[in-house]
Amino acid sequence: MKTTPLHPRFGVEVEQVDLSQVTAADGYDEIRDLFDRHLLLLFRRQALDAAQHLALGRLFGPIEDRSGSPDPIETISVVSNIDGDEVVGDEEDLRVLRNVANQQWHTDSTFLPVPALANILRAEVLPSTGGETEFVSTRAAWHDMPDGLQARIRERVIRHRFTHSVARASARLARLERYTKWPDQHWRALWPNPLTGEEALYIASHACGVEGMDDAEAQLLIDELVEFCTREEYVYSHRWQVGDVLIWDERATLHRGRPWPYEEARSLCSICISAGARDGLDAVRPG
Ligand SMILES: [Fe+2]
Repeated sequence: MKTTPLHPRFGVEVEQVDLSQVTAADGYDEIRDLFDRHLLLLFRRQALDAAQHLALGRLFGPIEDRSGSPDPIETISVVSNIDGDEVVGDEEDLRVLRNVANQQWHTDSTFLPVPALANILRAEVLPSTGGETEFVSTRAAWHDMPDGLQARIRERVIRHRFTHSVARASARLARLERYTKWPDQHWRALWPNPLTGEEALYIASHACGVEGMDDAEAQLLIDELVEFCTREEYVYSHRWQVGDVLIWDERATLHRGRPWPYEEARSLCSICISAGARDGLDAVRPG
């Protein structure tokens, strides 16, 4: 596999690999090593179908299931404004508002009892302009952060709530059961990578509090931290092409969607993979 940097601090494009052919015995270990070291991997000109997308995800771990069903359901989440044959361009439509909520800097699934290790996102339908996905490395930003700011969060536990971020996009959206059903989750502010030993700030738009701090003070600190991590110099902006697959490390990055003309169709297919012990999950659980 040949790699080319996407950004000076993180991310690589990986060439000479057909993701539909990767197995546990052939190719996964190399991809996993690149994932732990570079945090964001781009594969162009892929043609994954839904079954191949899920099979690739399973190599990383269990596919995330938000259904609450006793029999786990492997879900591909379609991030889209298409409904049947129609494009939904109304900015008040809940599908569009979901995309607006995704335009806040976040990492996925911090509000779940088992958070995500990775997301594998592929582009199926793209608009003529806009709709980029932007990323930063919270490993790089944490490395660069001034000691004084680091000291204010290093030993802390951050509280995460799905409706906290969704309500900023739409109060109506935030009342839906799919968002309200998750109780608050608590995670240590730093997620050390078990392979490389590097720490990353584990924060998101879902962060609604810091243990031992009042909520107003905590929100100011959260905002200051996210602002530091998302300074322009840290941002990689991905302009999608059909056939692109991005795989990113949810433990050490933030991402956000960018707007596009909503009268144009756009559809991305996403799966999250849940984190486990080998991914350092125990280190981020408060004692
Ligand atoms: Fe996301």
